[in-house]
Amino acid sequence: MLAVMDTPLSIVIFGATGDLYETKLAHAFQALFSQGLLPSDVRIVGFGRRPLGDDGFRAFTASALIRKGPSSAGFLARCSYVQGDLASQDDFKRLGEYLSDGDASAGSCSNKLFYLAVPPPFYAGIFKNIAGAGLTVPCAPGKSEGDAPWTRVLVEKPFGKNGAEAERLDRMLGELFDESQVFRIDHYLAKEAMQNILAFRFANPMFSPLWNKNHIERVRIVVHEERSVGTRGAFYDGVGALRDVGQNHMLQMLALVAMEEPRGMGADAVRSARAAVLGEVGIDTDVIPFRAQYAGYRAEPGVASDSETETFFRATVRMDNDRWRGVPFELESGKALNASCVEIEVRFKGRPGNALTFAIQPREGIRLGFNFKRPGFDTALEERDLSFAYADEPAGAPVRDAYERVLYDCIRGDQSLFISTPEIVEEWRITADIISAWQAAPLASYPLGSAPESVQ
Ligand code: BG6
Repeated sequence: MLAVMDTPLSIVIFGATGDLYETKLAHAFQALFSQGLLPSDVRIVGFGRRPLGDDGFRAFTASALIRKGPSSAGFLARCSYVQGDLASQDDFKRLGEYLSDGDASAGSCSNKLFYLAVPPPFYAGIFKNIAGAGLTVPCAPGKSEGDAPWTRVLVEKPFGKNGAEAERLDRMLGELFDESQVFRIDHYLAKEAMQNILAFRFANPMFSPLWNKNHIERVRIVVHEERSVGTRGAFYDGVGALRDVGQNHMLQMLALVAMEEPRGMGADAVRSARAAVLGEVGIDTDVIPFRAQYAGYRAEPGVASDSETETFFRATVRMDNDRWRGVPFELESGKALNASCVEIEVRFKGRPGNALTFAIQPREGIRLGFNFKRPGFDTALEERDLSFAYADEPAGAPVRDAYERVLYDCIRGDQSLFISTPEIVEEWRITADIISAWQAAPLASYPLGSAPESVQ
């Protein structure tokens, strides 16, 4: 790990003036930098069309950071900007020269990390231009493979718009990079409360005998968001709720709850266990998936006035395997609802009240619902929770933002919390089945701020 910290690092962000950098990445970079978790010689290079210059990009970064706290002058000094067009090979050549100049003045070759924080339609062009400018090859003439600085790409989701496109992108990536250089992000996997699902399941064997169709009645996975599409209308309108969070985050939530115990906790074992269970997921043909759009969505900036894009969906899937046969897994997500809540509820058979809930946010933790006898002369039962919340833990081990983990793991080369191609292929297959099944039903509408259960 020290070697990672010692080698200079250049991080290029495509889409640096976009929403993701502003709301997540700038904060995550600064947090890692100020805790000494980035190499001291780190260079954060924003690449974009806007004529910002280094000072403009630092001002943009500072104004993003100020939303959560002060910015550090030391960190801002590490940020710089290259103006360029994502479609221009010449601009990528200039980027290459800029990076080489930085290496030359530091007197050593840096590791290179390319972060694609742009919508999927730009991916293919960027991959081609990175390769065309010779940026896929680490600059280390004469060094042996083990000593050579690395080059990695971080790709945001959704990866493609369907399975065929994802496979096409993957083929292209495969020609330019080795799989060990490609980090496909699903930032939900990097959330602390998500990682705790596996720890909880496999480090507490007392639950193992219960973790199957004999004892579990249903599993409900929800991603409810209070926020609407905001400034992301142009991106979101081509995607919709199912592809935005269902295809990736929610199916990964399902994978962690439903998968078999991996052979080990290394990246290959964990990724193949997730892929295996996703391969067994099929949609429940008895329940037509539901989709709806919040009133006023079509007037959001960037959204088509006749848009049919869903901002809410509900679907039920099942797994045809010995552990889960017959157990419905319900998925529900929406924007512009009355409250934000992300959780997985595992409801046990028998009496109401017996449920285990993995609370992913806002209050990360675990709740175990049980029945107790109310004090008094009768035998009436009431439901209560035994609960654990990270927020109640003594200070010292903060729950980090998922993007800190994404960046840190990519820099240290750990792919466990990144998705593999077989997982993506299965995720798109399930998504395509849901989309074709909901063609049978019209798009419903719901008022802003609705309670999820009232969206019908
Ligand atoms: C992103 C989606 O992947 O996840 C957004 O594109 C969504 O639409 C977001 O709001 C939710 O992430 P988080 O970490 O805020 O729950």
